[in-house]
Amino acid sequence: MPENSNPTRRDVVKAAGVATAAATAAVAVAGLDRAPAILKVHAASDQMKYGVIGVGGRGGYLLKHLTKVDNGRCAAICDLDDAKMDKASATIGTSPSKYKDYRELLADKNVEAVIIAVPLFAHYQITKDALQAGKHTFCEKSLVFKPEEIHALRALVPQYPKQVLQVGLQRRYSKFYQLAKDLVDKGALGDVTHIHALWHRNPGWVMNGFNWRLYREYSGGLAAELASHQVDIADWIFGGSPEFVIGVGGLDTWKDGRDVFDNIQLIYQYPKGRKLTYSAISTNRHLPILNNTRPEFGEVIMGTAGALEITVGDGESTMPTALWYLEPEKVTAQKADGKAPATAAGASYALGGSQKALPIALATDQLKIDKNDSFLEREKKHAQRWLYGKGIMADDEDRNPVETQMESFFNDCHTGGHPKADLEIGLRDSTAVILSNLCMDQERRVYFKEIDTLGANVTPQQMAANLAASQSSYSKSLAAKKKVS
Ligand SMILES: NC(=O)c1ccc[n+]([C@@H]2O[C@H](COP(=O)([O-])OP(=O)(O)OC[C@H]3O[C@@H](n4cnc5c(N)ncnc54)[C@H](O)[C@@H]3O)[C@@H](O)[C@H]2O)c1
Repeated sequence: MPENSNPTRRDVVKAAGVATAAATAAVAVAGLDRAPAILKVHAASDQMKYGVIGVGGRGGYLLKHLTKVDNGRCAAICDLDDAKMDKASATIGTSPSKYKDYRELLADKNVEAVIIAVPLFAHYQITKDALQAGKHTFCEKSLVFKPEEIHALRALVPQYPKQVLQVGLQRRYSKFYQLAKDLVDKGALGDVTHIHALWHRNPGWVMNGFNWRLYREYSGGLAAELASHQVDIADWIFGGSPEFVIGVGGLDTWKDGRDVFDNIQLIYQYPKGRKLTYSAISTNRHLPILNNTRPEFGEVIMGTAGALEITVGDGESTMPTALWYLEPEKVTAQKADGKAPATAAGASYALGGSQKALPIALATDQLKIDKNDSFLEREKKHAQRWLYGKGIMADDEDRNPVETQMESFFNDCHTGGHPKADLEIGLRDSTAVILSNLCMDQERRVYFKEIDTLGANVTPQQMAANLAASQSSYSKSLAAKKKVS
């Protein structure tokens, strides 16, 4: 393990002196609810009966995790592809009804809630139809694809106040990300001015027969599939939407017929000059944060008193983790007589030296120090205990946030509760995706207020016709792929 991930007790005590503001805030954080999640056993009548529309990669993943969520029961599944439905049925094991046409699933009286995991271009139509059919609706991110769909869904959803609409932004359901938000809100990181988010892959998406993600007709590319999760984190931490975005997108490596960018670099400006800098690439998976222990994706939240590096993990072998870095103590240089500052006009400078990372929690860690622990292990636990004493350590993320989000969805369907990842969060997120692509395509600064007029003149008839055309070409491409394979 890298040297600087294991602060010694002395470092921690020193850090305590540096972090007065953080520690004060940390005490406030101690009031958070830290009760461990207890899996309740639900009677069959308490279980929300749900259907899943689209059981490909994501739908299949959700079903795998839904086997561990007991306040819902899969009553039906739908996909254009029979083989995927067979696989999905075996995964969930509840003998769900199978439909090839999603409208038949929506007409099934046995289905109370639907989970939509189809390609992005089809999200809006199926979400709309699901709400109109009286179903509670969970739709994967990014919620909608086109500007006109933002306006249409914003107008539609309030007409169904008794139905839940939740978006698949699972970081909102992670205890670690919730803790990060609390730390920021309670000032533990000082004034948070910058966030840096990365999603680095190698090789990234490959052309495997027909892959809808690679074509602009169906997909918003890297901005929709990856950046959407991380812009949502910045919206959450900064508490609103950006004012504008600038960026450069390139299709520089994968000349295989795709027409979406294979690398994107974006800067979003939020109110008060706060910024999110974003990088998604397809040529290297290095993640230069978290002591280089995780590949691919994560965020750094930077404030005047500290920084937090965080990732949700892949939910399979790696769970969310976070490291907290305190800013070094600031000193004002003084002349030998101790009176006036030696540097210009009262300037201060920070002492040099490397920062020590304080692990705010690791999924497998227990705080109990064992006689068999190595020296490093003990030191790490001391650091964690010190933080915990300040109320600043999260409980372990004891569940995949995907399971928490689904359990929460079913619960809200039962109780009329309001989801954390709701319509407005989903629409803000989709707006960011759409405008990110626009700024890269048009090579200009795009203001977020432009969304108000974009797509405003598209009629419902045009929307339906555009969608039907895309659905038809998508189905033909899928069929062609089957012939090839
Ligand atoms: N939240 C996350 O972390 C996350 C991760 C991956 C994907 N996703 C999202 O999930 C969605 C699906 O992505 P995927 O990777 O599963 O794609 P996929 O191509 O693997 O699966 C999509 C499935 O939908 C089916 N389908 C398409 N049109 C349909 C229709 N009209 N009716 C019924 N079935 C239809 C396809 O046959 C396919 O099986 C995308 O919006 C994607 O962004 C979210």
